[in-house]
Amino acid sequence: MTVEVAGVAMRSPVIAASGTFGYGVEFEEILDLAKIGAFVTKGLSLHPMDGNKAPRIIETSSGMMNAIGLQNIGVEAFIKDKMPGIRRMPGVVCIANVFGYTIEDCLGVIERLNDAEGIAMYELNASCPNTKHGGMVFGTDPDSLGDLVHQCKNISKRPLMVKLSPNVTNIGGMARVAQAAGANAVSLVNTFLSLAIDVKTRKPKIANVTGGLSGPAIKPIAVRMVWEVARSVNIPIVGMGGIVKPEDAVEFLLAGATAVEVGTASYADPRAVEKISTGLERWCAANGVTNAADLTGGLRT
Ligand SMILES: Cc1cc2nc3c(=O)[nH]c(=O)nc-3n(C[C@H](O)[C@H](O)[C@H](O)COP(=O)(O)O)c2cc1C
Repeated sequence: MTVEVAGVAMRSPVIAASGTFGYGVEFEEILDLAKIGAFVTKGLSLHPMDGNKAPRIIETSSGMMNAIGLQNIGVEAFIKDKMPGIRRMPGVVCIANVFGYTIEDCLGVIERLNDAEGIAMYELNASCPNTKHGGMVFGTDPDSLGDLVHQCKNISKRPLMVKLSPNVTNIGGMARVAQAAGANAVSLVNTFLSLAIDVKTRKPKIANVTGGLSGPAIKPIAVRMVWEVARSVNIPIVGMGGIVKPEDAVEFLLAGATAVEVGTASYADPRAVEKISTGLERWCAANGVTNAADLTGGLRT
């Protein structure tokens, strides 16, 4: 079940996705973090953020919409209050998710994390659709994305995985930009920009008006995007979007992903990531797959 993403070894290809797994330590009592490949922290910014006004989460057909607005405790508090607990969990792989309103903000977060022990990799969120000045600008404009990735890579002491926005026409082209700027891996997809309306009040169901759609509703689009990216770059791909069962993870691996992340499923079942990880192991055994890594790119067209 072991895989390697940008030089980081993981016990399983199944990773807990950013924003759906707190800062990892909150899940210590709920599941065995040693049975999953890694976990990604909630997005970290230079300063703490309160996020958007409620309502900011709703359920949709086969999914959910959120506009949390990147609420987080800030990088300093993360290092001081959460990292000691993460370091105490043996063998757990921690990926720090980083974002900022400006390139300088992102650089500031990475600089601070560079000095903290116990982080395996950075996931740079170039794709959040919820903040007015944030990720959307980087994630949907090739020049801004290239500049952001290049500058972050220059100062990063750890492998840099770039999380791509799905809200673009040519995701393969954006992945190529990230690779050319020095990304060691790409992850995709973040949530899809969406709008739900309460027809009685004629108001948006989410206070921010728009939100990001995730969960099973987006899976076939996300798998298609991973497949397109796999044909565009030769760095590792971490795929996600709507994974709720082991077979969903297999689809992403066959489309070209080296590993997968699980997000929304943790809201229905906080142990989902562990269950999908052990379920994938069983699926491989039952289907004559001796090495999960052999699934990567196995799609027959
Ligand atoms: C409530 C919520 C908060 C999220 N926060 C972040 C975040 O802080 N940074 C980030 O890169 N992605 C964030 N995401 C996106 C997820 O990591 C993932 O890319 C997306 O939800 C698709 O996967 P899923 O369908 O398995 O949830 C968030 C998603 C949800 C549902």
